[in-house]
Amino acid sequence: MSAPAPSAPPILPADADSIARAGRLLRDGLLVGLPTETVYGLAGDATSDRAVAAIFAAKDRPQFNPLIVHVAEIAEARRLVDFDSRAEALAVRFWPGPLTLVLPRRRDSGVSLLCSAGLDTLAVRLPAHRVAQAVIRAAERPLAAPSANPSGQISPTTAQHVAAGLGSKVALVIDGGPCGVGVESTVLDLTGPAPVLLRPGGAPQEEIEAAVGKLALPRAGAGPARSPGMLASHYAPRLPLRIAAREVKPDEALLAFGSDVPGGAHATLNLSPSGDVMEAAQHLFDYLRRLDASGARGIAAMPVPEYGLGRAINDRLRRAAAPR
Ligand code: TXA
Ligand code: MG
Repeated sequence: MSAPAPSAPPILPADADSIARAGRLLRDGLLVGLPTETVYGLAGDATSDRAVAAIFAAKDRPQFNPLIVHVAEIAEARRLVDFDSRAEALAVRFWPGPLTLVLPRRRDSGVSLLCSAGLDTLAVRLPAHRVAQAVIRAAERPLAAPSANPSGQISPTTAQHVAAGLGSKVALVIDGGPCGVGVESTVLDLTGPAPVLLRPGGAPQEEIEAAVGKLALPRAGAGPARSPGMLASHYAPRLPLRIAAREVKPDEALLAFGSDVPGGAHATLNLSPSGDVMEAAQHLFDYLRRLDASGARGIAAMPVPEYGLGRAINDRLRRAAAPR
């Protein structure tokens, strides 16, 4: 991993003082790196155009890619978007937790239009991390929070990842330790007749389907309007990534999975020797970063099964391997 920039932001333990300080900084329109159960977020006041514009600038994020607004209570989400019965059922079942719901914006939400990037919808989520909830309460307003990485790069799962990627663009990073889930939230579009899975993530598709029936996939060619964040190349390490690898070359680093691991790699990290997809998701982004810095010429990733969090892992690996 690259060393933090000289202008690295303070990284503070997640205690009452730093949470109160984060609340003040956010009310002043500054940006804070905060832990959630999925990945670290780059949080700003969702009701402030200036703060939301600063998030886009800090990440160098394309303006057409909307942001998720984070709340600490379901009641707050109902004030921001029009909740229908499906949204109610999903929120009761999955919140707090790694599920983001895309719903029609309410006119009086008070949320900056920049969060919606020109759409008439807003993505909302109630994170399960107690520090994220405490910071939202301390800020006394909903927080826009994309993953705290420069756009297109690997998402952060530690406070150190955030500081290394964003430096002084963030006023403070609160250290809540490594993220428990390790991949971003599942994003579900509830604005049409059938729920559409915009991004596989921490809430497994199988569990969502058990609650609301079969999910639709975004129409091919639906393009930026429907799922602006589904860029083909994303989550990318510097090194070229080869997926579904069953053998490895000596100058490659190996992102292994399971017990049957080929030898001879330049470096090897095993996402889960026991073949557990939840453990693999926890390690995914940190191991990709480490292998990227291992001095190898490329990274080979072994196949991960396509169920549960394995779907999110494979989605991220496919995007990381896509032509840039
Ligand atoms: O787990 C997560 O979701 C993390 C943590 C910090 O909460 N956040 C996160 O945010 O991953 P971000 O900005 O990296 O990804 C948000 C995704 C993008 O793919 C974006 O296009 C999509 O959600 N999204 C946001 N608002 C949307 C909307 N109104 N309609 C469709 N997609 C939306
Ligand atoms: Mg992201």
